[in-house]
Amino acid sequence: MSQSQDITLLSPIKIGNQTLKNRLVMAPLTRNRAGEGLLPTEMNVTYYKQRASAGLIISEGTQIAEDALGYPLTPGIHSEDQIVAWRKVTDAVHKEEGLIFVQLWHCGRVSHSSMLPNGMKPLAPSAIKPAGEVYTYEGMKPYETPQAIATADIPKIIEQYRHAACCAVEAGFDGVEIHAANGYLLDQFLRDGSNKRDDQYGGSIENRARLIMEVTAAVCEIWDSKKVGIRLSPLQPFNDLYDSDPKATFSYIVKALNKFDLGYLHITEMGAENPGAAGPSFDISSLRELWNGIYMTNSNYDFASGNKALKEDKADLISFGKLFIANPDLPERFATNSPLNQPDPESFYGGDEKGYIDYPFMK
Ligand SMILES: Cc1cc2nc3c(=O)[nH]c(=O)nc-3n(C[C@H](O)[C@H](O)[C@H](O)COP(=O)(O)O)c2cc1C
Repeated sequence: MSQSQDITLLSPIKIGNQTLKNRLVMAPLTRNRAGEGLLPTEMNVTYYKQRASAGLIISEGTQIAEDALGYPLTPGIHSEDQIVAWRKVTDAVHKEEGLIFVQLWHCGRVSHSSMLPNGMKPLAPSAIKPAGEVYTYEGMKPYETPQAIATADIPKIIEQYRHAACCAVEAGFDGVEIHAANGYLLDQFLRDGSNKRDDQYGGSIENRARLIMEVTAAVCEIWDSKKVGIRLSPLQPFNDLYDSDPKATFSYIVKALNKFDLGYLHITEMGAENPGAAGPSFDISSLRELWNGIYMTNSNYDFASGNKALKEDKADLISFGKLFIANPDLPERFATNSPLNQPDPESFYGGDEKGYIDYPFMK
């Protein structure tokens, strides 16, 4: 997509029939502050409402089923109670004339049996234990060897995505983002370091991409495809992920996803600072060329570098994570060239109102 030289982060953009008032997207941010039953709380309502001046909010990763959970106190989008609780969030954001998508999340092997139904082992493409430790309700624990999902059980996973997509409609979201990034289940299937299957979901790139394609098809049966985005992280080694040929893998999936005519492709450049850690490096700006629709990029952008990326036509949208944590009124601060609050990493994951809804507004 070629763009006018005048486009900045403060310019509106249309995605399907929805208009984003600016091109600053609030990136998905897990904050581990859901309430009992993994429901959003009044405090969560306030947090999202405070950030409704973003062109689009993408919610924190939100699990599609009980066995999709990976961390303590992350919300779900699969039960009646969760629908009702999320409705308060979406209503509050809409009252402020904001837009909000929910990020549909299955953590796969990044989990622990102590947090899963009936003490089940985490699910994964293959029974390969990630290196490192996982945060649980009882503190850090070593990862366990996950159970490989049987071929016959894959339709159940796709059905869980479909069900969560239906719940998202009922909860009043404006769309959904399929989380296929950062080492979680869909990414575990895509990359060959974690996928050693010998059925139609493993082996060739086409086979490893199959689950993402089937999940996207299922979600697009529920939602107008322009209200569906997808997130990928080609350079991200997080959660012990690796691919032997990321350029081929991600070029394939980006091209294949074109057929759905999605609202946007969201690429995070996380991992770029550590070239080679997730597999042989490549220039991910090549993915922009392969994508026919709206392209969002992410990681360590600020106002100047975000505007530069738009001007050079490297992206149509930029998502901001840490800056939105610390600056609920980020678009206004950018517009007026005002100083920014600094994010406090100590309060990123879990806790109370501190470092969550008490970052000051300019006014
Ligand atoms: C506290 C925190 C929580 C995050 N949670 C998620 C998440 O739920 N889903 C996701 O896709 N990325 C998540 N990320 C990654 C961010 O969306 C974003 O890609 C990252 O912070 C880099 O962007 P930034 O430099 O603008 O912060 C998280 C990052 C942080 C700092």
